[in-house]
Amino acid sequence: MTNQVLYRKYRPQKFSEVVGQEHVVKTITNALSSNSVAHAYLFCGPKGSGKTTMARLLAKAVNCEDTKSVEPCNKCSSCKEINEGRAIDIMEIDAASHRGIDEIRELRDGIRFSPARLKYRIFILDEAHQLTSGAANALLKTLEEAPSHAIFVFATTEIHKMIPTIISRCQRFDFRKLTVPEMIGRMSKISKSEGFKVDKEILKIIASSAEGSMRDGESLLSQVMSFSSGDKEVKVEDVRSLLGVVEKQVISSFIDSVLNSDIKGAFSVMNNLFSKGTDPEEFQENLIYYLREMMILKIMSGEEKSGSVYDVLKTTLTEEEMNIMEHQAEKVSEKIMQEMIALFLEAGSKIKYSPIPQLPLEIATAKVAQLLK
Ligand SMILES: Nc1ncnc2c1ncn2[C@@H]1O[C@H](COP(=O)(O)OP(=O)(O)O)[C@@H](O)[C@H]1O
Ligand SMILES: [Mg+2]
Ligand SMILES: [Zn+2]
Repeated sequence: MTNQVLYRKYRPQKFSEVVGQEHVVKTITNALSSNSVAHAYLFCGPKGSGKTTMARLLAKAVNCEDTKSVEPCNKCSSCKEINEGRAIDIMEIDAASHRGIDEIRELRDGIRFSPARLKYRIFILDEAHQLTSGAANALLKTLEEAPSHAIFVFATTEIHKMIPTIISRCQRFDFRKLTVPEMIGRMSKISKSEGFKVDKEILKIIASSAEGSMRDGESLLSQVMSFSSGDKEVKVEDVRSLLGVVEKQVISSFIDSVLNSDIKGAFSVMNNLFSKGTDPEEFQENLIYYLREMMILKIMSGEEKSGSVYDVLKTTLTEEEMNIMEHQAEKVSEKIMQEMIALFLEAGSKIKYSPIPQLPLEIATAKVAQLLK
């Protein structure tokens, strides 16, 4: 099982399978049911959020021979051709490698012909911002002259690099990063249907490091699965080492030393990590996340544990981790917490320019320990 297989295998085949992006799904399915599909769409947003998926769903839905529902049936010959990637009326062009004017001219000539087999010819132009300006202008002309059997879908991760005249001719949809719970939901379905037992805790780790990209999440998941395909049970330690995650426990013991003004202990936690190859910048970043969560817990302490802030914390922290953090937070005042964060933030910005990368962190640690004396 390769990474590719998993995320291709689980590309949503129906609008109802798309996770998040509710506004896009709703508007497009409404347009389909009222026969008012636009002729040029612009899908912008982060990688792995469903742009290509949505473009293919749209291509299937407008061409599906079964018109009972707005969902593509995935059974008729049109749907099948598209699913198998052999529909000649669906052109997918990667602008990153076809960015010149000649290619767009070819497209412009091609689009005049009626579809060979399907109702609509669909042009999906990926990474559309990569076109040269000559090509972008040729494309603009193509858009203006396009026959009614043509539908364009432009996808881009960098909307600010698109020429405004193209943007204004398209119906624009902004895709958003997927949330940790959304990714956990999808990945837990996938792992079940692959016959794997993957702990919620593990899915949380994977989802957080995928940073909003479902594709990255699914790739990580398949790496993790192939790591432990023998017993079909994935272990937390495996995942952490695979992803190079600095364990919360390590940060936690670092904080413990700092809170006890035990500079020697804190230094030895850091040195241990760095000698094993952890990047000081990554440690600093994790430390800041940790301190921020600690600060939030401190501010909320004594209050009822509910509400949106708390819900967000619950997506990345276990009950036990929260208890430990709360305990640690009790040992310092809010003011000191803020100063700690400020000092470690400052250290972070200096790591890059320091001749010894961990030195700024060591200085900050010493200063913080001083504060607590
Ligand atoms: N919103 C989503 N819902 C469900 N799966 C998704 C979603 N977005 C991405 N994926 C998964 O990630 C893969 C890549 O998504 P894709 O649509 O190609 O992303 P993009 O074009 O935005 O970079 C899909 O095959 C699917 O497995
Ligand atoms: Mg894409
Ligand atoms: Zn169909």
